Amino acid sequence: MDALEAIRKRRSVRSFTGEPVPREDLETIVDAGRLAATGHNRQLWDFVVVTETDTVAALSAATPWLTQAPAVIAVVMDTSSDFWLEDAAAAVQNMMVAATALGYGSCWIEGQTRPHEAVFKTLLRVPAEKRLLTLVAVGVPRGWPSRQKRTVEDVLHWETFGNRATEG
Ligand SMILES: Cc1cc2nc3c(=O)[nH]c(=O)nc-3n(C[C@H](O)[C@H](O)[C@H](O)COP(=O)(O)O)c2cc1C
Repeated sequence: MDALEAIRKRRSVRSFTGEPVPREDLETIVDAGRLAATGHNRQLWDFVVVTETDTVAALSAATPWLTQAPAVIAVVMDTSSDFWLEDAAAAVQNMMVAATALGYGSCWIEGQTRPHEAVFKTLLRVPAEKRLLTLVAVGVPRGWPSRQKRTVEDVLHWETFGNRATEG
């Protein structure tokens, strides 16, 4: 699957078959994350891949469906760059696109991780000075949800805001 196809296919998946994800595929997904663009090339990220059932169960305090996920990637950030949030987001999106390209479903879990960050940091032994920003669930999807997206015509402006001309 090429990059455009994976970008178009990706949707947040919150239901998994339970099949495990091979370690090499998880490594490929994290590799895609660490190759993301990063402000001043700081690369201030670490990725904790969780596959142990008990630990995944503990992380499902964020959201109950997470217990179905065979793997969860925690995105850990050093916040000493002005761009740490953007860097993390770029890495998460890369990982989700890579997961899609490999045939896996994934979901970016950030809003529901926030209230549990301190507990999850302790659980995963994340250094106190770093942030555990996001969990990314990865697994074999039960199906690909379809979701309404704004059309390209709706979001695209040529040269100046509001110009919808389709020809030069
Ligand atoms: C910054 C951010 C935070 C998110 N947090 C959560 C979350 O806590 N739980 C969740 O189930 N999905 C979360 N999502 C996934 C969004 O709900 C999802 O991307 C959105 O509904 C669009 O659907 P799609 O990913 O299938 O295109 C988050 C996405 C982003 C970008």
